Amino acid sequence: MAPLQVLEIFSTFLLVIFIQVYLGNAQNFIQSRAAYYPNSEEKGTETGACGFGTFGATINGGDVSAASDLYRDGLGCGACYQVRCTNSNYCSENGVNVVITDHGASDSTDFILSQRAFSRMAQTKDAAASLLSLGNVGIEYRRVSCSYPNKNITFKIDESSDNPYYLAFVLWYQQGKTDISAVQLCETQNFVCKLLDRTRGAVWTSSSPPKGQLQIRMLLSSDDGDEKWVIPLNNIPENWKAGETYDSGIQVD
Ligand SMILES: *[C@@H]1O[C@H](CO)[C@@H](O)[C@H](O)[C@H]1NC(C)=O
Repeated sequence: MAPLQVLEIFSTFLLVIFIQVYLGNAQNFIQSRAAYYPNSEEKGTETGACGFGTFGATINGGDVSAASDLYRDGLGCGACYQVRCTNSNYCSENGVNVVITDHGASDSTDFILSQRAFSRMAQTKDAAASLLSLGNVGIEYRRVSCSYPNKNITFKIDESSDNPYYLAFVLWYQQGKTDISAVQLCETQNFVCKLLDRTRGAVWTSSSPPKGQLQIRMLLSSDDGDEKWVIPLNNIPENWKAGETYDSGIQVD
């Protein structure tokens, strides 16, 4: 084969790869709009509808968002999305990865980002100022894996809890790309379990929790319909307290 022919075949090959990667990327993203929280707090919020509490303000460095439809009645809490704005004058290629911590919509938006996250979609500081002044911008987004290096899933007992009468909790550091679609609360003598309700946001509740140590099992559901129950290494101690956090001893992906 002549060298020129080889070059031709090779460059055609490269072009095909390029088109596949380019279209593949473009297809994964969904077009929408995003705005940002008007509050003076640049990061997240402790009072988001998901019920994450202080975690909601600090998680992911404050790169968080309220979602409208993607909130999915609380099931979408804790899910992660890559969001990038589409104005090539201002916007960076990668945009920002955010965690859903709240529910809300504003003028056809899928996301209301923290100001910090909104600014991080820009190429530069100046571009960020321009973006902020626009307020509501065209974006594209896709779901991505959440990543919390060196963190286990953690049970945060909600302040509304009252041992032994009422237990409410949220899950912190939900890794990966799956939803936690159901939770079972088990006593640890005979492992009799009951399914819990998610009564608001990401808050699971039981008005008659069993006595003794408790085991909390989680059902992970993926987009393609796969489901898997996971059992933590660590139980919740019998003397669990409102406001406390307990390490599950496991990570998921
Ligand atoms: C996560 O759980 C493992 C197993 O129980 C434990 O060894 C590790 O220290 C935990 N990691 C953190 C960051 O707490």
